[in-house]
Formats: sequence, structure tokens, C-alpha cells
Amino acid sequence: MLALDGRVALITGAARGQGRAHALALAAAGADIVAADAPRPMDGLSYPLGTEDDLRDTTKRVEELGRRCVPIALDVRDADAVGEAVEQTVISMGSLDIVVANAGIFSHSLETHELDMQSWVDVTDVNLNGVFYTVKAAMPHVLRTGEGGSVILISSLAGTKGLASLAAYTAAKHGVVGLMKVLANEYGKYGVRVNTIHPNAIGTEMVQNETLYKIFRPDLEHPTLDDALPAFAGMNPFGIPFIDPVHVSNAVLFLASAESLYVSGAQLPVDAAAAIA
Ligand SMILES: NC(=O)c1ccc[n+]([C@@H]2O[C@H](COP(=O)([O-])OP(=O)(O)OC[C@H]3O[C@@H](n4cnc5c(N)ncnc54)[C@H](O)[C@@H]3O)[C@@H](O)[C@H]2O)c1
Repeated sequence: MLALDGRVALITGAARGQGRAHALALAAAGADIVAADAPRPMDGLSYPLGTEDDLRDTTKRVEELGRRCVPIALDVRDADAVGEAVEQTVISMGSLDIVVANAGIFSHSLETHELDMQSWVDVTDVNLNGVFYTVKAAMPHVLRTGEGGSVILISSLAGTKGLASLAAYTAAKHGVVGLMKVLANEYGKYGVRVNTIHPNAIGTEMVQNETLYKIFRPDLEHPTLDDALPAFAGMNPFGIPFIDPVHVSNAVLFLASAESLYVSGAQLPVDAAAAIA
């Protein structure tokens, strides 16, 4: 059993989906959780974002595991708000040991010259700038414990491959890898490890919506999940369309725990081998 007793984790994008699964996994291992999510509305997304109600649900479920949970309504595009959330974390919980920069959005355009400017700005703002703001605010507190720590940046298959139709998303998710490598070099001397996780086709609202299905089934006007399943399954040699978030959480848990003491600077795929397919 990977133990996180007495540790405090900040997880962005924790209202639902993978972020919620990570909160529950880390709490089950003994960590107290700060769950941040519920951003300002963003025009142009093809699916809804997490809400304060979702955040309350995450909080309730963490508390049912016997751990403390502080929900924070936060937009990671707002560097000042991220700074305040981190301060609030440390005031409420006393320390900060684990950071999971998970908040992200998705958008696409068939070819890159068709991608609208706002979409580029929003995706890079959330998926790259937001990760930097989170790390910048968190690191002084993680270092202050003097006991090392773990910073986990959620990238993607798109942080490994040049996925067509996903220019902004792919650029941002590659950017996160560059940031991780710098951080792993800078903070190793303090015993802080920094890694990226590269999920693919995780069964959450981000990818289970009609717009995504249409990328795989442009021949249909209103494709359904069933219509898109074979195409999702074709992305990996396991032939599975979706991976349950808990499998990404297992990777987060390993990287958060002392069992990964000298694992740093790694890009860990949770993609059923899609990256090498
Ligand atoms: N689902 C997949 O197949 C997949 C694959 C690879 C990588 N990822 C990455 O995994 C992470 C989690 O995604 P998910 O699959 O759980 O999707 P999701 O949409 O269910 O969850 C993402 C969460 O991030 C929050 N968020 C978005 N923008 C935010 C902002 N500006 N400030 C604060 N919170 C914000 C959303 O409200 C949402 O709750 C993301 O970084 C995503 O890019 C997902």
C-alpha cells in the first residue's frame, strides 16, 4: 500500500473526471486534498467545464474517505488567483507536498490554419500557462517542508506525438514536458521529483462528446459514442476505446508516494501503448 499519511496535495481540475479520481486515490492513501476547479466560462468549447457543484461532490467524497478536503473555485489562467489558492492551501492545511497540475481544456480544428485565434489563446493559457502559474505559486511551499515532494504535470499522448488537428493542444502539452524537464533539473537537489503523465482516451467528458466523435466519424452528422468506439479502439494495440481514470490515478499515486523516490524527469504514458502504435 502506497502511504501518503500526513501529506497534502493540491490538485487542479479536481471537480470531476481524472482530477476527481486523483483526489480520491490520494485521499484513500492518506493525503489531505485541496481541490481547485470551476473556472470562468470559456466560449468556443464543445463541452461544459467543471462547476462548483462538481467541486462540492469531490469534497464530499474525499471527506467520506476520512480525509480533509478544501475546495477552491479557481481559474488557473489567473496567476494571482492561483497564488491566493496556494496560500489558502498552506493556511488551511499547514503544508504542501504534492502538486498535480491537471486542469486542462481541449479544442481542435481540421487543419492548423483554420484554428481560431481565441482557441489557441485559451488552450495554451489553460494547458501551459496555468501549469506554470500553479508550479510557480506552489514551489516555495513545497520546498519549505524540507522533506522533498512530488510535482506531477498532466500532459497527454499529444505531449509525445504531433497529433493532426490538435495544434494548440499538442503545442501546450509538449510545452508542459519542457517545463517538467527544467523543474526536475532545478529541484532534484531538494529531493523534489517532477514528472509528466501522458494519458490517452480516458473516459471523461473532455473526449466523450459529439464534437470529438465527429473527428473520428466526419461521415456522420451526429455521431454517437457507439459510432466512434472502433476508431478510439484503433488508437492502441490493446484495442480498447477508453481507459478508466483510475488507471491514471494509479500512476499519480505512484509518483506522489515515496515508492518513486528517484523517479524524476520521466514521461509516464497511461495510453495502452498508443504512443508507440
Ligand atoms: N480525457 C482524455 O482522454 C485525456 C487524454 C490526455 C490528457 N488529458 C488531460 O487530462 C487532464 C484532465 O482531463 P479530463 O480528461 O479529466 O477532462 P475533464 O474535462 O473532465 O476535466 C478537466 C477539468 O479541468 C477543469 N478546468 C479546465 N479549465 C480550467 C481552468 N482554467 N481553471 C481551473 N480548472 C479548469 C475543468 O473544469 C474540468 O473539471 C487534462 O489536462 C487533459 O488535457 C485527458
